[in-house]
Amino acid sequence: MRVAILGVGRLGAFHARVLRDMRDVTELRVYDADAARAREVAAPLDARAVGTIDDALAGADAAVIVTPTGSHASLIHTCLALGLPAFCEKPISLDLASSRTVVEQVERSEGRVQIGFQRRFDAGFQAARDLVRSRELGTIYGFAMTSRDALPPPDAYISTSGGQFRDQLIHDFDMTRWLFGDEVEELTALGSTQGFPQYDVMGDVATAAVLMRLRGGAVGSASAARHNEAGYDIRVEVYAAKDTIAVGWDPRTPVRSVERDMPALAGPRYPSFFVRFDAAYRAELAHFLRFARGEADNPCTVAEAHEALRLAEAATLSVRARRPVRLSEIN
Ligand SMILES: NC(=O)c1ccc[n+]([C@@H]2O[C@H](COP(=O)([O-])OP(=O)(O)OC[C@H]3O[C@@H](n4cnc5c(N)ncnc54)[C@H](O)[C@@H]3O)[C@@H](O)[C@H]2O)c1
Repeated sequence: MRVAILGVGRLGAFHARVLRDMRDVTELRVYDADAARAREVAAPLDARAVGTIDDALAGADAAVIVTPTGSHASLIHTCLALGLPAFCEKPISLDLASSRTVVEQVERSEGRVQIGFQRRFDAGFQAARDLVRSRELGTIYGFAMTSRDALPPPDAYISTSGGQFRDQLIHDFDMTRWLFGDEVEELTALGSTQGFPQYDVMGDVATAAVLMRLRGGAVGSASAARHNEAGYDIRVEVYAAKDTIAVGWDPRTPVRSVERDMPALAGPRYPSFFVRFDAAYRAELAHFLRFARGEADNPCTVAEAHEALRLAEAATLSVRARRPVRLSEIN
């Protein structure tokens, strides 16, 4: 397959290497708004750096979009107009209006667009979902999700990211819907710029906590931080009538027990999302190529990504208005 990758910054360069490793990718074209960056990433991969989006997409079989979030919607529209299957990183967009336009356009054109929520491809999250759905755990009462970056992204990234709820907690919002097969009815969010006063002028926060009640009755939390030098830390606990389960506990989990020596947890910590989700990112892109060829279902639709963005909008509103927000308010 001839694959075009658009945007090869932090994550795009990683995705380009993953695509290059795939046997069914016969040609990889690399486009970045920064032409020097495109050449730098393409050279060691024996890929072709191209100077325009048109050069990247003409005659391609699929496109992978890893540009800043504000450009996702228009690049998806470009791919849809060409009838080109597209993978696009999360979140679908910075705002609900343009996200809704994408959903409508995909439906109208019957286009193929997969959104990149890689936790759906993580073995631990998949096992938890299977258990929850099997009803083996009995009634689900609650959950606690944790998402902590080891080091914060550059301020330039933060300023165009849409903020912590749309950029970081969006993964937890997607996981809440995907794990439990339920919808959030109401949420309350709190945020702080502790340690990152420069985020105030961006209208963003660096640490946040969200409390959610699902329609089915379960109550849970998601907490996130941009800075946690103990390591990149992604975990979920699910509390149910018959058992409590956890995702994200292994010898690299960056949590130190102060009560007892736990040698099993003394290994090197996860330094970044690249390491923690290496297998998930690879499985996700491999699935995309099958989906693009019409051999697999869409594992993450634009409609689902739109719903995750609604949760991020609700949380953003909750922090600004300092009140609980019902999802029925977010349209
Ligand atoms: N799924 C995940 O775990 C995960 C992790 C990190 C980032 N992301 C998402 O990936 C996207 C990119 O994030 P990043 O950290 O790689 O950002 P980045 O800023 O490191 O890289 C973005 C790259 O896109 C280029 N660019 C900017 N506008 C462009 C355009 N219109 N066309 C082509 N190239 C353009 C920039 O020159 C840069 O090289 C974001 O939407 C982010 O939310 C997802």
